[in-house]
Amino acid sequence: MFAFNLAPPAAAKKLPRYPVLPAMLIGRLAIATKRQGQGQGLGRALIADGIIRTESFRIDAYALIVDAKDERARIFYAANGFASLPDEARRMFLPMATALQLV
Ligand SMILES: CC(C)(COP(=O)(O)OP(=O)(O)OC[C@H]1O[C@@H](n2cnc3c(N)ncnc32)[C@H](O)[C@@H]1OP(=O)(O)O)[C@@H](O)C(=O)NCCC(=O)NCCS
Repeated sequence: MFAFNLAPPAAAKKLPRYPVLPAMLIGRLAIATKRQGQGQGLGRALIADGIIRTESFRIDAYALIVDAKDERARIFYAANGFASLPDEARRMFLPMATALQLV
């Protein structure tokens, strides 16, 4: 679950006033070592797959959440539309409304 009071102000303005919101946590996301960083968009394709699957579950998730495991991963997610929560740079979120525009 995604805690409403952790949302940054810009996003919080658009949120319904519930104490928590449903979200989908991306547990592990990785591609084969030899395919990483080759500009093939495989990591981006995995994010797109997560967006489509989340939508298909019909749980009305507000956002995708991920805990970037290191700074390199944080930059990857930021390059793909995720924003960091205040004081928790590695915990990042992508609103589903935004995500669905990307796929
Ligand atoms: C992170 C990972 C999934 C990225 O996959 P990838 O196929 O190399 O990345 P993509 O080709 O899909 O890149 C998508 C976009 O992110 C950017 N990007 C990818 N890795 C980046 C990095 N380390 N730093 C900055 N930007 C990055 C790309 O430039 C691209 O943007 P662009 O199209 O505007 O140029 C992959 O490197 C991986 O499996 N890493 C090891 C596991 C890991 O760290 N997973 C995250 C766990 S939280």
